[in-house]
Amino acid sequence: MMAENEHFGAREELELDLLLEAIFRHYHYDFRGYSRGSLHRRLDRARLRHGCESLSQLQHLVLGQPAVFADLMGFLTIQVSEMFRDPAYFRALREQVVPHLRTYPSLKVWIAGCANGEEFYSLAILFREEGLEDRTIFYCTDISPAALEKAEAGIYDAERIPQFTENHRLAGGKASLSDYYTAAYGAAVFDKTLRRRAVFAQHSLASDEVFAEVQLVSSRNVLIYFDRELQDRALGLFGESLVRGGFLGLGAKETLRFSRYSDAFADFDGGEKIYRRNLQKLKALDHAA
Ligand SMILES: C[S@@+](CC[C@H](N)C(=O)[O-])C[C@H]1O[C@@H](n2cnc3c(N)ncnc32)[C@H](O)[C@@H]1O
Repeated sequence: MMAENEHFGAREELELDLLLEAIFRHYHYDFRGYSRGSLHRRLDRARLRHGCESLSQLQHLVLGQPAVFADLMGFLTIQVSEMFRDPAYFRALREQVVPHLRTYPSLKVWIAGCANGEEFYSLAILFREEGLEDRTIFYCTDISPAALEKAEAGIYDAERIPQFTENHRLAGGKASLSDYYTAAYGAAVFDKTLRRRAVFAQHSLASDEVFAEVQLVSSRNVLIYFDRELQDRALGLFGESLVRGGFLGLGAKETLRFSRYSDAFADFDGGEKIYRRNLQKLKALDHAA
């Protein structure tokens, strides 16, 4: 799904492999299936920040110092997000998906790769506005513990709020966004009642398994960081987790059409990358192979 036109020498490739293997074996975080070009770029910035001449030197540092690894997590995972990011996606959920969700007496939603919580608060607000909040549990997962902490806090810089407000309006918002937060010291503190129905948990699409049966998976702008095989693994998890007829929303630049699970999903809103789990059986546990 992502064009990779950079070329790295055999030595750089080897050093990157060894660093990722070391991180996996020592810290049990698996970045081995991430797309190579962006790993090279980001780890090169980390290498410079830590004053290392090579990735091998960085590896030595990372293995010896957990604090360096914690810092590296900030390079390996990217938390760029917005509330109601791509408002047309949220409008499509509101206008086209919600009518189907209403037919379920109880609902579970999995926000996979929730970053600092912007996507979760968008969905929590949308579900409240549509009267579905009380029957829903939101599972908010991410590989990054630091991101999950921020998601649970629900505090965002005030300067981001005009963008969030405009996105909310374009997404068909029924109230004013300011109804959902309190302004304090240059920040917006989102109403903690929005989190009443949320569970925040660390979960990696690269190494963990399915944990719930859900009616909606929203996983936006996460697959773009993965190579094809890892994208397949994640899509297999989404397929296993979704009830038949359940919905999957991906990011604007993502698709499942080239994956081995393509047949298990029908286009629901092709433009907004919303798919629907069909009756097709998943090739059982292929992703675990
Ligand atoms: C660019 S953010 C996407 C945020 C939000 N979903 C959105 O679309 O605005 C990507 C998120 O994916 C998370 N991530 C990266 N690798 C992951 C993995 N293996 N499992 C779960 N989350 C992962 C990152 O930590 C980051 O928070």
